[in-house]
Amino acid sequence: MKIQSIELDGFRNYGHIKTKFDDNVNILIGKNAQGKTNLLESIFYCCIGKSFKSCKDKELVNWSAEQARIKIVAQKKYRDLTIEARLFKDQKKTIKINDLPIKKIGELIGEINVVFFSPQELKLVRESPEERRKFMDIDISQNNKRYFYQLSRYEKILQNRNKLLKNSKTIDVVKETVEIWDRALVASAKLLAFERQKFVSQILPFAQKAHSYISGGKEQLELKYICGCKVELDENFEENLMKQLRKNLEKDYKLGYTSLGVHRDDIDIYLNGVEVKGFGSQGQQRTVALSLKLAELENMCNINGEYPILLLDDVFSELDSERQARLIKFVGRTQTFITCTDEKKISGKVYKISNGEIAVQK
Ligand SMILES: Nc1ncnc2c1ncn2[C@@H]1O[C@H](COP(=O)(O)OP(=O)(O)O)[C@@H](O)[C@H]1O
Ligand SMILES: [Mg+2]
Repeated sequence: MKIQSIELDGFRNYGHIKTKFDDNVNILIGKNAQGKTNLLESIFYCCIGKSFKSCKDKELVNWSAEQARIKIVAQKKYRDLTIEARLFKDQKKTIKINDLPIKKIGELIGEINVVFFSPQELKLVRESPEERRKFMDIDISQNNKRYFYQLSRYEKILQNRNKLLKNSKTIDVVKETVEIWDRALVASAKLLAFERQKFVSQILPFAQKAHSYISGGKEQLELKYICGCKVELDENFEENLMKQLRKNLEKDYKLGYTSLGVHRDDIDIYLNGVEVKGFGSQGQQRTVALSLKLAELENMCNINGEYPILLLDDVFSELDSERQARLIKFVGRTQTFITCTDEKKISGKVYKISNGEIAVQK
């Protein structure tokens, strides 16, 4: 999978730009606040249908424009692909794949697979379980559309169940209808939990390999999928989760929300048996976060027979020179877009980014 060219109009601090990319390493160099991250964001948007920052579409439109357009031409293993997204300040975005408008984001996801890494991704290791769920969701959705649809279904069912818990005058009112929501919730939870468990076991060997490679190989990385349903992942999963939900109903009614389910999932991460979240050094956390991302890359290739696009934002500012050198070797496997503020010892096509303009360095 390769992105051949991009065209932007009014996206973030860009006016109109159009540029071709190299099949291997594209190095985006520029001072701070020139548009390097914005360019990665526009690529990510065409892959996932939203930004990697939590922000609204209208924030992506240039302050002095009414709409933004991103157009990407990509080459897949067996066919070419054009993706065009239009974002507006006051209406919903539209996305076209090969000139045909799509109805749901699910149609876009998986067309161009992507892995994004920036120093902020440290939160993947350090912050709340939500970050690790997001990691699993974005990754699995790209390889499995059923997962993506089940996930939004689960979220809707959960919202409805929570509304019922919160707004019912008595628990008897809840009991009248909760069974319907529970059946639906349990069916969706099953697919999500089993897929997440599979995902964690799939990326583990890749993450271990990447981690020992980047860190120089002394520590043993372990990942453990923690299911928030608090039942075994076996053939009785649905039945047992139904029982658990019933058992917890009174508690949930008092809380006003559902305390059990895959919305409480997490991944525990250990180095040599010690939990990295609470006890790892900054350096260890950073290496683990990067290893997880590189594992994502390898795992996607394993599943699809094709590497995803790799977006690396400012990663060099955070890694020591030895780790930088190791990362660079890893980078050569797929089309990579890498931002930095000065020239590094990477070979690749260099683009200067300055105040929303892009220029190929000769
Ligand atoms: N919607 C927008 N319209 C115009 N400029 C924007 C918009 N959103 C962000 N910017 C500007 O983009 C610049 C940041 O770009 P960014 O890609 O993050 O920089 P960097 O090159 O450091 O990665 C800032 O100057 C910011 O003010
Ligand atoms: Mg930046």
